[in-house]
Amino acid sequence: MHDFEYRNGELYCEKVRVQDIAGRVGTPFYLYSYKTFTDHFLKIKKAFEPVKPLICFAMKANGNLAVLRALVQKGAGLDIVSGGELFKARKAGCPGARIVYAGVGKTDQEIADAIRANILLFNVESIPELENIQRVAHQLKRRVNVSLRINPGIDPHTHDYIATGKSESKFGIDLDTAHLTFMRSMRYPNVSICGLHVHIGSQITDGEPFVKAFRKVLIFVTSLEKEGHRIQYLNLGGGLGIIYSDEKPQTAAEFAKKVLPLFKGRRYKLIFEPGRFIAGNGGLFVTKVLYIKQAASKHYAIVDGGMNDLLRPALYGAYHEILPLTKATMGKVQKYDLVGPICESGDFLATNRKIQSLRSGDAVGLLGAGAYGFTMSSQYNARPRVAEVLVKGNRFDIVRERETYQDLIQRERVPAYLK
Ligand code: LLP
Repeated sequence: MHDFEYRNGELYCEKVRVQDIAGRVGTPFYLYSYKTFTDHFLKIKKAFEPVKPLICFAMKANGNLAVLRALVQKGAGLDIVSGGELFKARKAGCPGARIVYAGVGKTDQEIADAIRANILLFNVESIPELENIQRVAHQLKRRVNVSLRINPGIDPHTHDYIATGKSESKFGIDLDTAHLTFMRSMRYPNVSICGLHVHIGSQITDGEPFVKAFRKVLIFVTSLEKEGHRIQYLNLGGGLGIIYSDEKPQTAAEFAKKVLPLFKGRRYKLIFEPGRFIAGNGGLFVTKVLYIKQAASKHYAIVDGGMNDLLRPALYGAYHEILPLTKATMGKVQKYDLVGPICESGDFLATNRKIQSLRSGDAVGLLGAGAYGFTMSSQYNARPRVAEVLVKGNRFDIVRERETYQDLIQRERVPAYLK
């Protein structure tokens, strides 16, 4: 479900014609729908209403301040993974009490900043990290809340790069070590280990791996409680898959129907960290055809957006549906590789895609670009990062200006001997 649809052959985002925005902003750019983002947040919120969880949007998926503000204003918390994300979370007006902090490599500075910002929980990924949080909290004369991220050893059936719950992955702590850590919790007087965290991977379309992982968490938490440990928070991570092409992912309601019964009669505060589910379908990457190149075996549509702007196809072989901004009413269908201007063979946005015949100057949108689109972009090939635009109803706002050539050199310094 999203708010990009055709009316009279023209692609609209909510009530605005995408071509009009392209005319004003130029291409390429990211286009977001306020309604799609907030609707998806509210869908999860509603599905889990009986237990009133804290839903922390994983801002690595989309860190634009306007997007964050839209979600925070609807009651979302934020899941952060760096000091930079903490900074942006605060700028977006997110109260510390709604921030959880994950990631395997938190620095002393990042830990201290997060403690000062009074975040709700650190999701701790290793024992050395726990020791470090203890040390920093002691220095600051504070006591901080921590969830241990456990690695349940579950295969989430997703792309290898985004599977995190397998026992061989770098994430989380195995159950034996976690148990030992609870037994030794007095070693960490400035830390209250009051939660467990589990996140097994991303773009998981089936409920089964989640249920398996959560069952393991429940068995573990039950045994901890029998030993007298008190667990207040269960952070069940993110990972809910979305439709890019022909996936049939569980809906938020179906997910809740599977998950809620597991926690019936237990009093934990549940936390979720969805990123893609909230933002993925709310974004379109708009790019324009520069040239059509006919090679021996195929047609290339060379567009002005590249792998530096939208990395997912190059990195994961990800599929993003192509929507021409203006639908052809007649004419033939053609098979294209949609490729960017970057000097790498891996620079493609789509391969072997049958779509309406394209001409130089035609603009197309790639769906499913609201999550891990702009946030993974770079300036590779000295390409300024693109603009981001947010539509709400019949208005649109540029929520991040396109970078300029000056931005490319802004922080570079040439030593005196080269001048
Ligand atoms: N919580 C933790 C601890 C995570 O590591 C992640 C994502 C999330 C929550 C949010 O997961 P989501 O609900 O979005 O699936 N760049 C990749 C995805 C990387 C996901 C990393 N961790 C992509 O474009 O598919």
